[in-house]
Amino acid sequence: MAISSSSKLKFLVVIVSVLLALASTNTAFGSNFDVEFERTFGDNRVKTFGHGGQILSLSLDKYSGSGFRSKKDYVFGRFDMQLKLVPGDSAGTVTTLYLSSDQSTGTHDEIDFEFLGNVSGQPYTIHTNVFSQGKGNREQQFHLWFDPTKNFHTYSIVWNTKLIMFLVDETPLRVFRNHEDIGVSFPKNQPMKIYSSLWNADDWATQGGLVKTDWSKAPFTAYYRNFNIDSTTPRAARADASAVTTMSTNGKTTLGAWRTHDLDAWGRRRLRWVQKYFMIYNYCADLKRFSQGFPLECKHSRF
Ligand SMILES: *[C@@H]1O[C@H](CO)[C@@H](O)[C@H](O)[C@H]1NC(C)=O
Repeated sequence: MAISSSSKLKFLVVIVSVLLALASTNTAFGSNFDVEFERTFGDNRVKTFGHGGQILSLSLDKYSGSGFRSKKDYVFGRFDMQLKLVPGDSAGTVTTLYLSSDQSTGTHDEIDFEFLGNVSGQPYTIHTNVFSQGKGNREQQFHLWFDPTKNFHTYSIVWNTKLIMFLVDETPLRVFRNHEDIGVSFPKNQPMKIYSSLWNADDWATQGGLVKTDWSKAPFTAYYRNFNIDSTTPRAARADASAVTTMSTNGKTTLGAWRTHDLDAWGRRRLRWVQKYFMIYNYCADLKRFSQGFPLECKHSRF
């Protein structure tokens, strides 16, 4: 009798600790690269570390770059990723973070953040673009107001029915509004995956290919952590189109604030500040390129 009740107790203890362990791995799912992402190329140049893959690194050497993408597709949402870019002499390297639908269709949608490295001490360039129905040519480029290689910073894309917004540490860099009303197509029907890669682009990224990647500094490495995807998958969207709550990969049910995300007064001030001091290229101001007339969306307010 005594023996059997103590073994029952032991059994209970085992059950409880298994449940506790499961609960804690669930919270570790928070931002677990192994769960949400898969490698696209680069073999062991894609590495995950920490409790169940909370940090990821990509590296680039003479032979190959590397990359990963989400396992799931998304329609609208907010996508946050913390990155620490390649330090030192990173000229010729390009780190990307983008959303893209199936590129083989010829009419794909894409929302791009790209980070163009530079020689030591010179600033990175952040390159942004929006493709809709296969048409891009909407570049804006910026320098940053901090060194993106010293610490992790948060790069976000907000994508809803009204706009696409690019943010760096919550400061909006760029807003691309839905101008379907004047005949500009807007990404909204094609589910997208989130992608990231680190590759060599010294044929174009460095002042038109003038500066070459210095392979004696290889491997080049960028680090990722604390991603969060707050969105709905196409299946979930179909199953419950009216759902207000959405699930984010940090395990929280959210109210889906990204659905109505827009510039507030603070955001508008920050955007003006960035565009005034840090924007280095704007397709809507490139007269040489658009001598036949600017794209339609350029006629509308910058914000
Ligand atoms: C590299 O630095 C130079 C000098 O500051 C700058 O003009 C250029 O835009 C930078 N290039 C890239 C690719 O970031």
